[in-house]
Amino acid sequence: MAQPPAAAPRTSSPEGATTQSSPDDALSEESLKEFITSLPSREGWPQPLIQYKSYWFNRNMLEGVLRARRAFAPRAEDVILATQPKCGTTWLKALAFAVATRSRHGLGAPDHPLLTRHPQHLVPFIEIPGVAGRDHAELGALPSPRLLATHMPMSLLTPETWSLGCRVVYLCRDPKDTLVSRLHFENMVAQDDSALSMEDAFGMFCEGFSPKGPFWDHCLDYWKESMARPDTVLFLKYEEIKLDPARVVKMLASFLGVPLTEEEESCGVAQEVATLCSFEKLTRLQVNQVGGVDHGNKVYIYNSMFYRKGEVGDWANHMSREMGEKLDRIVQEKLQGSGLVF
Ligand code: A3P
Repeated sequence: MAQPPAAAPRTSSPEGATTQSSPDDALSEESLKEFITSLPSREGWPQPLIQYKSYWFNRNMLEGVLRARRAFAPRAEDVILATQPKCGTTWLKALAFAVATRSRHGLGAPDHPLLTRHPQHLVPFIEIPGVAGRDHAELGALPSPRLLATHMPMSLLTPETWSLGCRVVYLCRDPKDTLVSRLHFENMVAQDDSALSMEDAFGMFCEGFSPKGPFWDHCLDYWKESMARPDTVLFLKYEEIKLDPARVVKMLASFLGVPLTEEEESCGVAQEVATLCSFEKLTRLQVNQVGGVDHGNKVYIYNSMFYRKGEVGDWANHMSREMGEKLDRIVQEKLQGSGLVF
């Protein structure tokens, strides 16, 4: 990754969310599993979800979160891409990777890593480093500045993330499209007859009961922080990238500390990044069509599962107008007064 300038260290804790240490951070591997068993659990999604500090996780993911809080050591130069699943994580990983490494990996190079590696594997998750074939020790061995990703709610990122001044790019998406994308993904992963219906998924999502949910709380914490400290948290929406990807590429480059030079501007580098990372380009590559990763517990995620339609507004093909209006009302109410709208 190209070297962004060191961010100014943060001395205060973020607005609107607690990011304190917790006694759970010191759990041994054995007591961690026992601890998870003691937490509230609820059925409904293909895998039961467990509630931890007001958010819902499947067991694998929660183990990852607790291990990350124990073993992951942030560095001031880290850039963390934060999302809820199905909000465009794969796309953001591709864009940020292309922007940040462009001095090392020429965008038109025939051996550009994005042509042969899945974006999900180029940027490892803090809480599921195994997806990129790594563990926390290997994350620790990566050279700075590291480009990392997370689905963790802001309040669960280790407090050092904030005190060190790590920069965070948060990407969210219209909750209706996120839910539709989620439902398709869950049903693809389950691969059996227990397909979840739109009605059931909708009801649970509206209650705030969804993987990494409540959806609105996850967005709101990062949103508030981005308002209070725009130099620390860049808040993006899937829809705005769709509308003008080149504009977002420029914003990303500046935020990562590697702004486009005048020459790059005149050569159309922003558009070049956007094209390299476009849905059309990525889905034509073999690496994004075949292969996958075994997550254990009978969960196998094919590389192709991260690409479906890549459109804005597909929700209208899967839920009624009334359902759309109901979800909009709930989300509006939850976000009221924050300035965040979908
Ligand atoms: P859909 O299911 O609506 O098509 P995530 O990466 O967070 O899992 O999100 C997956 C969603 O992002 C899917 O949405 C997928 O198609 C879409 N997506 C993946 N890569 C994309 C790209 N390069 N451009 C636009 N959308 C993309």
